[in-house]
Amino acid sequence: DDPADLQPRPCVVTVMGHVDHGKTSLLDAIRETNVTATEAGGITQHIGAYQVEHNNKKITFLDTPGHEAFTAMRARGARVTDIAILVVAADDGVMPQTVEAINHAKAAGVPIIVAINKIDRPDANPDRVKQQLTEYGLVAEEWGGDTVMVPVSARTRQGLEDLLEMILLVAEMQELKANPNRPARGTVIEAELDKGRGPVATVLVQNGTLSVGDNLVAGTTWARVRAMMDYKGRRVKKAGPSTPVEVLGFSEVPQAGDQFFVVPDEKTARQIAEKRAN
Ligand code: GTP
Ligand code: NA
Ligand code: MG
Repeated sequence: DDPADLQPRPCVVTVMGHVDHGKTSLLDAIRETNVTATEAGGITQHIGAYQVEHNNKKITFLDTPGHEAFTAMRARGARVTDIAILVVAADDGVMPQTVEAINHAKAAGVPIIVAINKIDRPDANPDRVKQQLTEYGLVAEEWGGDTVMVPVSARTRQGLEDLLEMILLVAEMQELKANPNRPARGTVIEAELDKGRGPVATVLVQNGTLSVGDNLVAGTTWARVRAMMDYKGRRVKKAGPSTPVEVLGFSEVPQAGDQFFVVPDEKTARQIAEKRAN
């Protein structure tokens, strides 16, 4: 893309960490804090990704916690995340999957923000967590390093504002941009066969704008986009950079991590997909 065509885009954040350290709770707490207020009747999460707005800036969270999904995507060459939130429980400390998550993020070249969670617990020991993380090259800013570490509690919501603030700060330094005025490309986040609606895929648009009626190829599948829903389940006609949307119209169920791109017509889409399948 010509630099003149590039426009700022929201950052895309993935949450990783050891089992039961509070990834889902943290995502839920962030979503409730930021979404419930603007959404009548509470939260209806329709797809495995959503956006929150903080200080008038959007943040896209991929609700595919656990690094299995992350690994699968990386194995397929997809780079979807701009920032990794590493959740470490303040009582439990660094555990094997914490280390795996660090390695994944480092290998992908993604900056890590550490959320030291469960600080409401009487046995919480955030300093011990910081100490342990130094062994893996993550040194807290307040200890002279360059890793942002935010003490939080998904239960009491303490520190969530700080965490969002830090996400925006790190994102700002990345100067994330994309060109909304070109055919879309992006990555399949998750997909399934819905009884009534056929193959349904949640995709993240990474560049360009995806529109209803577009023809696309994803892995060995293709689609003529029949309908799109945003993370609130509302029908949308267009989805720009960093936007997660649910897409209907796939020929078959694509795979998480499949990268998609828009082609001029349905025939081309089908031909490319079929050629790839054989
Ligand atoms: P997996 O997806 O299974 O790896 O777990 P997870 O990392 O998503 O953790 P989850 O959100 O399921 O939380 C695990 C347990 O920790 C649950 O019982 C939560 O209620 C509890 N928990 C999460 N966050 C906090 C917190 O800030 N404080 C306290 N006291 N408990 C928490
Ligand atoms: Na859990
Ligand atoms: Mg979870």
